[in-house]
Amino acid sequence: APPAIIAPSILAADFANLGAECSNIIDQDATWLHIDIMDGHFVPNITFGAPVVTKIRSHVARPTEKHGKGTFDCHMMIAEPKKWVKDFQKAGCDLYCFHYEAAISSTAAESPEETSNAKTNPKEMIRYIHDCGMLAGIAIKPDTSVDVLWDILENENANERPDMVLVMTVHPGFGGQKFMASELPKVTELRKRYPELNIEVDGGLGPGTIDQAADAGANVIVAGSAVFGAQNPGEVIALLKDAVEK
Ligand code: DX5
Ligand code: ZN
Repeated sequence: APPAIIAPSILAADFANLGAECSNIIDQDATWLHIDIMDGHFVPNITFGAPVVTKIRSHVARPTEKHGKGTFDCHMMIAEPKKWVKDFQKAGCDLYCFHYEAAISSTAAESPEETSNAKTNPKEMIRYIHDCGMLAGIAIKPDTSVDVLWDILENENANERPDMVLVMTVHPGFGGQKFMASELPKVTELRKRYPELNIEVDGGLGPGTIDQAADAGANVIVAGSAVFGAQNPGEVIALLKDAVEK
């Protein structure tokens, strides 16, 4: 499997002190920052937009290599993912992870051609994200079957293949929810077919659930409350990393 990547979700950080919180968590050996963007439509909650990402970027050095330390992993829980690609690229996002469910819905289409060919939208999204200079991730909610991804992952055109798959282990919208072990067979199946794929899990991850996720084959670990709520975040980051690498 690819290297362990620990991506603390800043949803659990102190929003009034975001710059310091973010640079501090990177200093404590977090690999990426997981940045949750919610629009109040795709999920029943609102967070923040590109201007906030721009400000955080000024506190955290850009990664020096692909998938490297300081990567901004923007998890776009928004109904119109295509609309915001350029703004987030300008804001300093490195990896734009959109939801499959939003890409196939008609609200994601901006032209009649796209509406009539809605099923190809995830591939078009990936190509567009790559063309805009970012890595592309595709996320699936708990109610979405992993089977929707095979066609996208098996694409012979590398520009239309995702750099990461995100398997949600909670219903997206809020931090601090209970981990859904029922989603792990998706990770197992993805890892079996794609030994080198970056597979991210998000929701309810922490010291009590990391072993199951790591055993299934996840290598990119999001953790919000478990990291930012800890007395010693650096210790939790090290524990999560060790569990993936063991
Ligand atoms: C949930 C978000 C998660 C969230 C995870 O919709 O996508 O990234 O912040 O929070 P915890 O780790 O507290 O479950
Ligand atoms: Zn997230």
